[in-house]
Amino acid sequence: MRAEIVKMSAEHLNMEEIQRAGRILKEGGLVAFPTETVYGLGGNALDSRSSIKIYAAKGRPSDNPLIVHIADIEKLSEIVTEIPEKAKILAEKYWPGPLTMIFPKTDIVPRETTGGLDSVAVRFPSDRIAQELIRAAGGFVAAPSANTSGRPSPTMADHVMEDLGDAIDMIIDGGQVGIGLESTIVDFTEEIPVVLRPGYVSLDMIREVLGDVRMDKGLLITDSSVRPKAPGMKYRHYAPQADLTIVEGEMDAVVRVINEFAAEAAAQGRQVGIIATDETRDKYPLGVVKSIGSREDEDSIGHHLFEVLREFDHCQVSAIYSEAFFTPRIGQAIMNRLLKAAGHKIISVS
Ligand code: TXA
Ligand code: MG
Repeated sequence: MRAEIVKMSAEHLNMEEIQRAGRILKEGGLVAFPTETVYGLGGNALDSRSSIKIYAAKGRPSDNPLIVHIADIEKLSEIVTEIPEKAKILAEKYWPGPLTMIFPKTDIVPRETTGGLDSVAVRFPSDRIAQELIRAAGGFVAAPSANTSGRPSPTMADHVMEDLGDAIDMIIDGGQVGIGLESTIVDFTEEIPVVLRPGYVSLDMIREVLGDVRMDKGLLITDSSVRPKAPGMKYRHYAPQADLTIVEGEMDAVVRVINEFAAEAAAQGRQVGIIATDETRDKYPLGVVKSIGSREDEDSIGHHLFEVLREFDHCQVSAIYSEAFFTPRIGQAIMNRLLKAAGHKIISVS
């Protein structure tokens, strides 16, 4: 089986095709679709068999729970037993949008969907194709990122085809996604809300609305004995095939050190990959140099991160070196993904 590709845009929704995709989901099939963060691999969230199929298609460990996507706020109370006041405030501010919240689940959500947990992660995406598909499917769509487990998340339909083309029924191609990093996850099952995964909605933005918010310890410490609370965060992830190292420090020093690595490789007949920015790309004379975006526009860096990591899998490079991107607003989200892709290999230079 090769997935059928259906193209459309948010401005010109093809409702007939969306209804057909909705029927595929209701009947237990799998449909990949765009969201504003990354492409999702959708299945009926209330059908345990669909969730089992999702895990199989991704090659994902079954203890790693799926996010349930809704497209109408009224539906939330059907799948969660309580909605704390703070969650309501955050939902009002950032839903629909790139935010996922975790609550205790009701019995209609099968444990196959939640990786065996009593809690469920819920997101209300802002993408119009996603919203209409979720409604057409009956209101509850389980959707992890539509990549093979361990690979960078997909930001365009081609990435989904590359990873899952033979394992799913349909891909709705809505073009390149807007944000390019997965949603921020906030856990409301504890007294003080906890950020389990940083994303486009930053810790500061959440603090501004809620006051006291914690960052999951497992995210801050690289010591592998401290387990992150979101099961998915403990796996090595996003990794390109070639070994990736991040070089951090003052810009001139970073450029100098990366150029030394590139020269050393060239002397041995090898070629390195370099993740640079629009501001620095011309400073690297050797290797395969890719600009990830501009430091003047941090969203452009988030937008291209997964795409650039995937592109290097199609290049002959012996190793990859990346600049660091501790940008003011979404730097935490970008560096969380980049550090995981690098297996936490980071060199500080001065
Ligand atoms: O932006 C996104 O969130 C995308 C799009 C498709 O919506 N989805 C996505 O799903 O990134 P996924 O499955 O790739 O990542 C979900 C993360 C995993 O790290 C998982 O462990 C965590 O959410 N998670 C889900 N349910 C949880 C729960 N009940 N408790 C703790 N962590 C949970
Ligand atoms: Mg994922």
